[in-house]
Amino acid sequence: KGLKPVISVIGTGYLGATHAAAMAEMGFDTIGVDIDPSKIEALEAGRVPFFEPGLPELIVKHVGTGRLRFTSDLADAVATADVHFICVGTPQRRGSHAANLSYVEAATKAVAESLSHDGIIVGKSTVPVGTAARLRKLVADSKPEGIETQVVWNPEFLREAHAVDDTLRPDRIVFGGTDAKSEAVLREIYAAPIATGTPVISCDLATAELVKVSANAFLATKISFINAISELCEVAGADVRVLADALGYDDRIGRKFLNAGLGFGGGCLPKDIRALMSRANELGASRVVGLMQEVDEINMQQRQRVIDQAIDACGGSVLNRKLAILGAAFKPDTDDVRDSPALNVAAALHLRGAQVLVVDPEASQTAQRSFPTLSFADSLDEAVTDADVVLLLTEWPVFVNADPTHLAELAANPVVLDARNALDSEVWSSAGWEVRPLGGRTVARQRRVLEGAALPA
Ligand code: UDX
Repeated sequence: KGLKPVISVIGTGYLGATHAAAMAEMGFDTIGVDIDPSKIEALEAGRVPFFEPGLPELIVKHVGTGRLRFTSDLADAVATADVHFICVGTPQRRGSHAANLSYVEAATKAVAESLSHDGIIVGKSTVPVGTAARLRKLVADSKPEGIETQVVWNPEFLREAHAVDDTLRPDRIVFGGTDAKSEAVLREIYAAPIATGTPVISCDLATAELVKVSANAFLATKISFINAISELCEVAGADVRVLADALGYDDRIGRKFLNAGLGFGGGCLPKDIRALMSRANELGASRVVGLMQEVDEINMQQRQRVIDQAIDACGGSVLNRKLAILGAAFKPDTDDVRDSPALNVAAALHLRGAQVLVVDPEASQTAQRSFPTLSFADSLDEAVTDADVVLLLTEWPVFVNADPTHLAELAANPVVLDARNALDSEVWSSAGWEVRPLGGRTVARQRRVLEGAALPA
């Protein structure tokens, strides 16, 4: 046509809403589609149904420029657009490690059936290797006769809390299964980041699917690696933070994702490594199954370590003890509580009879919906007041930078479990706190090691 392609984005969750806004920012007329009419209504009004820094501003901007609109009418959007991005979720299947592909399949089929002119279907969702090839067949069987379309894969690597920036300025762009024509269209769409030197990797469908899954598997492995080492640090009296810093100076290793602590949660890493286990198992690649199993187990064990530490800090039982839980979101700067380690720990301690009071700057509402039996405080001060033990479970800056002297006056007992290794222990200690880091030195534990185990000379 010689005109700029019009873009439809199917699914308006973290991935889709951000991608749609970014496409508009890159200059394309974009239509965001979702089956949930309340989401569409909110987005059209410039309200984002979740907390993501910078995203509401970008959406308001381009609803304003007229480049971005939202609809629940998929057929209409597909009839208008030329390139269709599939951005729906692939959550973990109930009672299984596998990914639930029903949303991806339904969305792709609906797009194919609604095609009224030639176009490209671009998968962005994280899927098990082999899915895109199956979707190609589904599309061929579903599209109207005489229409030409192609399914390609363009995985997305955005992080929540940095979604806008990651989408506008990605580290790399991966195109899977493109031919000359679709490759040219995708290069036009990503012209802005390509112009600033972002590398493009063109490969087959299976490689593109696996790049995404492997990236998340590697990140998860890095976290579980440092957490496994942190267990050793704890019994040996070493300091895992100093160790991570020292490792990080080796640029083959790098310091990022070496923060020992409560481990990973969220809507991606946990389910992606499990989906990888499941798919690798189906394909008979047993090493990766074993490796990911260990990564997953180490990660889940961190939650138990924090629960045990809390019990220990309460002198053997948390029954009727007041615990201030700082953090509900799975990481700072998001209100996402999917598979949140913080809430997992809070709920477990609540079940053991502790009086748990949770505080989070953004995630209280979503947390309350998922955990209606937990109590939530409106402020850090309220949570810490009269607490027997304070647990830092999500390292929000407002917690990390809080005034420890003031908090020490509020707490019944100035003991803090720093489950994210985020506090400046010297500052907190001199304000009167007993700081117990996860995997660092603690006087009590070191003493136990010295008494109980034979130390090397
Ligand atoms: C992740 C990937 O980073 C992203 O590229 C992909 O597209 C989706 O999955 P996200 O789930 O938003 O993104 O969170 P991320 O920032 O990766 O953090 C994941 C979890 O790891 C969090 O629970 C975080 O607290 C934890 N984490 C991270 C650690 O425990 N230690 C670290 O050093 C880093």
